[in-house]
Amino acid sequence: EVSGDRNLVDFRFPVQYVNRPTAEFRGYCGTVASGIVRVGDTVMVLPSGLQSRVQRIVALDGDRDYAVTPQSVTLCLADELDISRGDMLAHPGNLPFVATDAEAMLIWMRDRPLQVNHAYGIKMGTRMLRATFQRLHYRINPDGLHREPAMKLDLNEIGRVDVSFFHPAIFDEYQRNRNTGSFVVIDLQSNDTLAGGMIIERTRHRGPSQPAAVQTGVRHLSKESSLVTNAERRRLLRQRPLTVWITGLSGSGKSTVARYLERRLIDMGHVAFVLDGDNIRSGLCRDLGFSAQDRKENIRRIAQMARLMNDAGMIVITAFISPYHDDRLTARQCIGEERFLEVYIDTPLDVCEARDPKGLYRKARAGELHDFTGVSAPYEIPEQPDVTVSTIRDEPATVTAHILKRVKEFLD
Ligand code: ADX
Repeated sequence: EVSGDRNLVDFRFPVQYVNRPTAEFRGYCGTVASGIVRVGDTVMVLPSGLQSRVQRIVALDGDRDYAVTPQSVTLCLADELDISRGDMLAHPGNLPFVATDAEAMLIWMRDRPLQVNHAYGIKMGTRMLRATFQRLHYRINPDGLHREPAMKLDLNEIGRVDVSFFHPAIFDEYQRNRNTGSFVVIDLQSNDTLAGGMIIERTRHRGPSQPAAVQTGVRHLSKESSLVTNAERRRLLRQRPLTVWITGLSGSGKSTVARYLERRLIDMGHVAFVLDGDNIRSGLCRDLGFSAQDRKENIRRIAQMARLMNDAGMIVITAFISPYHDDRLTARQCIGEERFLEVYIDTPLDVCEARDPKGLYRKARAGELHDFTGVSAPYEIPEQPDVTVSTIRDEPATVTAHILKRVKEFLD
């Protein structure tokens, strides 16, 4: 969206030069990379985190009340702080990321290919940093734009990488801020420009049903509340977050399989947690019954919960009937396609009914329980689940091993 390129929301001021012509004057010169700053605004200096107030905004033709991107101005602050070239000023309630890890898209511009784990220079705004590229996730094939595995990036190739900075870098997502979300890769020996890069923190998937204003609100919240990147959390927990969404009839074996899977993942050193009827319907969703509308709300809340736990870096395993296709799709969209694995436990109704672990099928048949899935309420079989398993053919441990194989593909 070309018209949306100018970011007037997030104030960012990379300091280009500290101007001290006399002992009386100290000003910070630079170009407003995005947003607006006014005299009297409280600003935070990054990466130090010190705060002060804007006392004057000086431009070529005199003082101003405010400055807006892309104006070049000199800012004078109320306090004498230690600020130098490469620092960034922003509003304390709306800060960029300050982090040593990020994910980025690179376009490689030299004959010599990209080398993983090699030290490169990164020019980001007015900052010069050193960094290595830890991992090449994939390359984009320009014919058709599909992703393909790659060991290296050659001239004119585009690929997604993990960047690891030697010192904290200050940045935004490119999608949100072109000026503070882009960088240039430089050869440390020759000073040649090797590549251009864009920061792409993994953004939350927002469902298509949300109006644009709400989506912007969500972005702001996520932006303002966290100074920690997804990449940092991944490194800390040594895993990629994922939701394994298990669906199937009552008595099909969802909870058993979920608990086996949780056990295996914890044994492997992962941080995993099961959400099922026991811990959700007794608390968060205890006000809900089993009408189609209540089940929809049940699944919506569970999906939101799983999404937050994924945002925190955890692996979530859910075990709910989730009988409606639309509700499962909403969950997938809420959590995000790239971290959602749908597992269908294909145990037929007659087997579930014969097992009847809680005696509920019997009650439903006797008319004592209404809207019972499979008896008096529908179960819509998943059309394209990521994994289908059977608890009649295989033992829970075998079923779990099968699911784990797919989970590992996600985690690697
Ligand atoms: S969902 O349809 O909203 O996904 P959920 O998985 O949370 O259902 O809860 C299903 C569990 O609630 C069943 O395993 C069963 O123990 C219990 N239950 C009680 N009444 C019903 C009902 N009418 N239909 C289905 N399950 C019921």
